[in-house]
Amino acid sequence: MKKIIITGTSQGVGLGIALKCLEKNDRVFACMRNVDSAPDELKSVISEKNNGSMIIKMDVTEDASVQTAINEILNNTDSIDTVINNAGTFHEEAFEKTSIDSIKRVFETNFYGPIRTMQAILPQFRKQKYGHIINVTSAAVDVTPPMQSAYTASKTALDGISRSMSMEVDDHGIAVSAVEFGRIATNLVPNFMKQITLDEESPYYSIESDFYKLNEKLNQDAIPPSKITDEIYEVIAAGKDAKYKNPVGDEARFWIDSINEKGREFFVKGGLKNIIKDLIKDR
Ligand SMILES: NC(=O)c1ccc[n+]([C@@H]2O[C@H](COP(=O)([O-])OP(=O)(O)OC[C@H]3O[C@@H](n4cnc5c(N)ncnc54)[C@H](OP(=O)(O)O)[C@@H]3O)[C@@H](O)[C@H]2O)c1
Repeated sequence: MKKIIITGTSQGVGLGIALKCLEKNDRVFACMRNVDSAPDELKSVISEKNNGSMIIKMDVTEDASVQTAINEILNNTDSIDTVINNAGTFHEEAFEKTSIDSIKRVFETNFYGPIRTMQAILPQFRKQKYGHIINVTSAAVDVTPPMQSAYTASKTALDGISRSMSMEVDDHGIAVSAVEFGRIATNLVPNFMKQITLDEESPYYSIESDFYKLNEKLNQDAIPPSKITDEIYEVIAAGKDAKYKNPVGDEARFWIDSINEKGREFFVKGGLKNIIKDLIKDR
């Protein structure tokens, strides 16, 4: 039985990972910013398992909230095996139009959020002489899709800082991994898309409307979190033997294989836009 902290477990992939870990009889510290809206399914499985799993309040954008949550968890257990930085937010807009405030908003959750949890747990991991950090990044780190510059930057920054610091902490028995997936059927992108209206006068109208169609297609074809949680669990189960980079799901592998096959230069110099045109040709 592993003891696992997961951020952003109120819905989507985080909820799926929490339920998978509970199914495997792990002890889960399911963190979420609004504990009052904790899903009934999660509450009932936690109470059924009766193994010390609990729901913990944590807003990853606030230093004090993260530290208080980690303190509370460590008051309830003397060790933690795994921390999964899953909580995340999304942004899609042409780079020129993306405000600094929007970029900061995305970084606050997707980049500084995981940094807060990692820095809060590392003293405990060093004391134990083991621990595994798993960051949820995205195939966007490899694909660098247009229209997602802020989102891609936040996940790429997380990837960079994690790879760098992983070489500092491995002497202390601590491993770091990234799980990267493609589009998953959650509220993340659809909720963001609801705020968007296409403007034909925009200088970026052509790519904006292509991305609108691409999102509709990807959302329609997306697999539910339950279809990737087995693969994510393999990374959790591997612990210190897990690889750093773990593409999860066929869509992530499709994009990463396409880059490897065609070469990054081809991909960024128009090749990706052609693949996208091909994917949306019937729309
Ligand atoms: N869905 C995809 O296509 C996709 C693809 C690649 C990578 N990802 C990554 O997968 C992870 C999970 O996303 P998802 O698709 O499951 O999205 P989701 O269904 O929208 O879930 C996001 C989770 O993050 C939580 N969260 C957001 N801001 C937070 C904050 N400040 N503090 C604490 N929790 C916060 C949300 O809580 P609330 O319920 O309170 O909002 C929710 O539990 C993210 O890191 C995302 O970038 C998703």
